Amino acid sequence: MEPRRKVIVTERIAEEGLALLKSELEVDFRDGISREELLEIIDQYDALIVRSVTKVDEELISRGTRLKVVGRAGNGIDNIDVDVCTRHGVIVANTPDSNTISAAEQTIALLLASSRKTAWANNFLKGGTWDRKPFRGVELYGKTVGIVGLGRIGSMVATRLKAFNMKVIAYDPYIADERFERFEAEKKNTLEELVQESDFISVHTPKTEETFHMINAKMFKLAKEGVRVVNCARGGIIEEEALLEALKSGKVHSAGLDVFEKEPAINNPLFEFDNVVVTPHLGADTYEAQRRVGENIAEQVVLALKGDIVPNVINLPTLMTDELQYLRPYIGLAEKMGNIYYQIEKSPVTRIELTYSGPITQNETEMLTVAFLKGLLAPVMLENVNYVNARLLAEERGIKVFETKQPQSNKRYKNLINVNLFGKDSEKQLAGTLSRARQPLLVEIDSFETETNLEGYVVMVENIDKPGVIGPFATMLGDKGVNIASMKVARKNKGETAVMMVNVDNKVEESILERLEQVDGITGRPKLLKF
Ligand code: NAD
Ligand code: MLT
Repeated sequence: MEPRRKVIVTERIAEEGLALLKSELEVDFRDGISREELLEIIDQYDALIVRSVTKVDEELISRGTRLKVVGRAGNGIDNIDVDVCTRHGVIVANTPDSNTISAAEQTIALLLASSRKTAWANNFLKGGTWDRKPFRGVELYGKTVGIVGLGRIGSMVATRLKAFNMKVIAYDPYIADERFERFEAEKKNTLEELVQESDFISVHTPKTEETFHMINAKMFKLAKEGVRVVNCARGGIIEEEALLEALKSGKVHSAGLDVFEKEPAINNPLFEFDNVVVTPHLGADTYEAQRRVGENIAEQVVLALKGDIVPNVINLPTLMTDELQYLRPYIGLAEKMGNIYYQIEKSPVTRIELTYSGPITQNETEMLTVAFLKGLLAPVMLENVNYVNARLLAEERGIKVFETKQPQSNKRYKNLINVNLFGKDSEKQLAGTLSRARQPLLVEIDSFETETNLEGYVVMVENIDKPGVIGPFATMLGDKGVNIASMKVARKNKGETAVMMVNVDNKVEESILERLEQVDGITGRPKLLKF
């Protein structure tokens, strides 16, 4: 029996997730393990699960020689060097939708708590003082909230603040106008415009080079007197030094912060302000979110270790569940089509042109291209080729890949994947679709029309189109105990070259292929393809 794959979990995830992992894998739960020890032992593991604290960088990944997948139990991936993982063929998956509601609700909590001085008043009262004077707050009603980043969480915050009768404005240069309309947010073309008009500013972008310190001293200068800010996204999007100054000067009236430039945040000077409400990165810390996150990441890590398609892979195109369901058999088809080339040709490919036709083009076809490249390269490369690194490995081998989409197929198949592969001295054309039973079907090879199941073993034979070839060929196979499951014969012109694609039930030995070559009319050694 194969030993169970091993996963190390370096930060706390929900029991439900751990239980799921344990049902399939050997699990080491090492919450808070030191960096030094992790570096020491990472080469024992096939998978690593982290939250936001463990740094997944070049040093760790290059020592993790067995690693196939890094699971981020949560959303933000700023602690993970995704490019490095991709280069090493390591899948990075996260759980982007599992904690969005919790993060949005925490944003609202911080916004209300900071504008009504809830935490400050709470401490006062529990300290034995009944006084209302210092705690007069402001209403949200009728005010303008500026949302920076109208993604998953930003849009949920927008919807919730609409219910408070706030005017919602948003700045997000990377989304379509339609999204602003859908969430009834007035689009602002610049951050400056948003800052100038907002009574409240809430940031919901990822932490990137561009967003780091995007709310800075210059922005506070532009902001309204008494502006209030919330950061439940990532520390550093609001520059802490600038916020400190703006709080001191009274320009900023309150702040709600769940995240900090340095975490764990201890003795942060911002904690000294009564009008600053802080929480220790609790945005995702609800029972519901943690259960979803834990289960979701466990499922994805298990899928990844089985070599299956993983829904939320960062270093692959993201597919919605429905889309994945629909595309899954086409992904299998593309991979099997990729498998064909090096089973037939021995010259290296330098250029690949993929054309996707039909309704399939309404989906993200990048995943199909990646699957084709994986199918092409995996049999000829020592290196572990997977969906994540296939494109990069193809690039490194000097293969240029081009994709075209046609909304309608000009052949009799509704959906079609056509591929032209060019080598130095060779050219090969393949076209494939799915059968009615949604099984992969090769429908053309070098413009010879066929309908060959890409299943098990296929003998490919080139012969002259004349009587007396197929009979002896089939008899010889039969004599050798090889059962023919189905057979397609294709020709372009009468009497010229024909191609037979023969699905057989068992492997055909090289010695038999040699004998088949001797059959009158068969031109060249028949090839055995395996799928
Ligand atoms: P998302 O990817 O769905 O949305 C981010 C949005 O920011 C996108 O629409 C993107 O176009 C926009 N954006 C990117 N760069 C921008 C820029 N320079 N200016 C303006 N907009 C920009 O992400 P999400 O799931 O909504 O998460 C948002 C943030 O919340 C992330 O930083 C994530 O790590 C963080 N988060 C925090 C907690 C927590 O516990 N506090 C929990 C979950 C998520
Ligand atoms: C996230 O990005 O999902 C959050 O920061 C939550 C977390 O990791 O705890």
